[in-house]
Amino acid sequence: MAYDIDMIKKVYSQMADRVNKAREVVGKPLTLSEKILYSHLWDGETSKAYERGKDYVEFAPDRIACQDATAQMALLQFMQAGKKQVAVPTTVHCDHLIQAKMGAAIDLQSANKSSSEVFDFLESVSNKYGIGFWKPGAGIIHQVVLENYAFPGGMMIGTDSHTVNAGGLGMVAIGVGGADAVDVMAGMAWELKFPKLIGVKLTGKLSGWTAPKDVILKVAGILTVKGGTGAIIEYFGEGATAMSCTGKGTICNMGAEVGATTSTFGYDDSMERYLKATNRTDVAEAANAVREHLTGDDEVYANPEQYFDEVIEINLSELRPHLNGPFTPDLATPISEMAVKAKQEDWPINVDWGLIGSCTNSSYEDLTRAASIAKQAVDKKIKAKSDFGINPGSEQIRFTAERDGLLQIFEDLDATVFTNACGPCIGQWDRSDRKGDEKNTIVHSFNRNFSKRADGNPNTHAFVGSPEMVAAIAISGRLDFDPTRDKLINEDGEEVMLDEPKGIELPTKGFAVEDAGYVAPKEDGSSVEVKVAEDSERLQLLTPFEPWDGENLTGVKLLIKALGKCTTDHISMAGPWLRYRGHLDNISNNCLIGAINAYNKKTNFVKNQLTGEFDGVPAVQREYKKAGVPTIVVGDHNYGEGSSREHAAMEPRHLGVKVVLVKSFARIHETNLKKQGMLGITFDNEADYDLIQEDDTFNFIDLKDFAPDKQLTIEVVHADGSKDTIKANHTYNEPQIAWYRKGSALNLIKEQNAA
Ligand code: F3S
Repeated sequence: MAYDIDMIKKVYSQMADRVNKAREVVGKPLTLSEKILYSHLWDGETSKAYERGKDYVEFAPDRIACQDATAQMALLQFMQAGKKQVAVPTTVHCDHLIQAKMGAAIDLQSANKSSSEVFDFLESVSNKYGIGFWKPGAGIIHQVVLENYAFPGGMMIGTDSHTVNAGGLGMVAIGVGGADAVDVMAGMAWELKFPKLIGVKLTGKLSGWTAPKDVILKVAGILTVKGGTGAIIEYFGEGATAMSCTGKGTICNMGAEVGATTSTFGYDDSMERYLKATNRTDVAEAANAVREHLTGDDEVYANPEQYFDEVIEINLSELRPHLNGPFTPDLATPISEMAVKAKQEDWPINVDWGLIGSCTNSSYEDLTRAASIAKQAVDKKIKAKSDFGINPGSEQIRFTAERDGLLQIFEDLDATVFTNACGPCIGQWDRSDRKGDEKNTIVHSFNRNFSKRADGNPNTHAFVGSPEMVAAIAISGRLDFDPTRDKLINEDGEEVMLDEPKGIELPTKGFAVEDAGYVAPKEDGSSVEVKVAEDSERLQLLTPFEPWDGENLTGVKLLIKALGKCTTDHISMAGPWLRYRGHLDNISNNCLIGAINAYNKKTNFVKNQLTGEFDGVPAVQREYKKAGVPTIVVGDHNYGEGSSREHAAMEPRHLGVKVVLVKSFARIHETNLKKQGMLGITFDNEADYDLIQEDDTFNFIDLKDFAPDKQLTIEVVHADGSKDTIKANHTYNEPQIAWYRKGSALNLIKEQNAA
């Protein structure tokens, strides 16, 4: 498994000097986030104080983690960079391509069959370039990273938006697009706008039914899906230290749902316990030696308002369990108010499924807390009304949970134990009970609940809760069930209540595993051959994007004006499309098919201005491309929120879209557009969105002078010949403009490597 203790010791050996220097330069006490950021500057020690939310800064991350869906494109890109080995310790985890259907044994077998081509490709590229490979069934990337690689004070990037999970072990861990990961794999700096800082002070202590999950469900309700954008959320206070390390991971994990760059906690005893329990006593000892640098300065936490851009305080003793949803993770409802709210909103009350797992909540502690509820159902003779599905977070957790009798408890309730993988969380769920599009409710302990996310059905109302609450609700079969108050009728007709959940933070007999599922790479992989079949429908070697000709863009036609939420799921849908993540042309057939056309309120139905006819977005765009006509996509707020998949940027680029003009961008997607040589810009005046009409043509009349901090002027020509001239803003700095000139960041890297 080989976590790199030498690398960790090196980071710690530099920490004191770098933190002290940063404190001197910044001229005030430092938060933990600042300590980690300033000790990971690409140029070593800092010479200036960076302005939060403004300055672009180059960093040197310690690790990279990739999951199988995003790794395909990342590695296809890395293969083009002309390197022998990755420059930074990297791992690939096969967790997204395994469909949940019958249960672990059968599902894993069929995934190994249906995706063997992709798994073999990932394994051979990993072997060739010195990348650690985690086989299908080994576990969900973020649990495996927490168990093996995360370390306090470290900086990691990962090609998945829930990379942030590693903040539970005191890292600054950030989800990026594959293109960013490729830069770092190729030995280049990684650039990020120096984040703003949100402090969350946790007072009191969790108890009873309230879990770490409820902290982040509450924070999501306060901040909303946009509230953390561009910021690191740093948790501190007695409530933080009293919580388990994996509980902290849950909170950090869902920081992605408020748009936060990442979230983190200071090093404490819970992390030391976790490191030791996961066989990393040497890491714990190394961390103990620099303990003071692995948490914020005392003065910062004593007077947080002076040091954070925003401070939220939550008293854990008063916090109550929540369920968030449906359709968005920030719609927070305390369990006690759900009965009234569900009725008001006409949400289906009967719950079909309770799903426990995902990278968010599949730790040993999570399983024990949920199992303590499930066991009561058996003991008190209550028949579970909903179906139960469980996805353990890793083979180590599954093996240990089986040894300790936890899985048996769920099986006694007829639960299906799925593979240690993402499964329903990413839409990899062959749900057998509902094939139609009927309105229905499920509850899960995952992080995302956008429409269609779990089962592809837009009428599935998915609610997010803690594993123990999911267990209780699944047993009752009702969304309005409040276990702190409501009784259930058992098989003997008696009224019974569920007692509060009880969890075990770490297995008392220690973790155990027979085959964790790790494959170490060859030391010298130069002889390893990587095969991609020419006629493969799943993998395709990349062709570089065309460079910019340096001219103004004119005659640009509107492809789609997207209305409302347009997440990366809308731009590049997951579910069945995961199959084509390594084949750019094939996956481009899902380009923007989930976006709502502002003019007819339909998805995947847009006007082809060349013919006047309507068709699907990819089909119309392919027509424009064939005719050599450039196009533009117009969008609303927080365009591209959700996952880090760069396919959402590469697909329109591949199909010939030249510009994405929106009210605002989600950070990762904006960077991905830049990396792929696309023009990603924002309306200077948001109201100009309303000026855009279906038959518009756009002329970018001063693009030739593209420069940092300089607005672009767009002439919008309407069908009747009238014109509006509008201004657009952008956040491209000089190096990013160089990507645009070259056609993509990768084109530039290749050129530099060849020089
Ligand atoms: Fe997988 Fe869902 Fe996490 S897709 S990585 S379990 S958010």
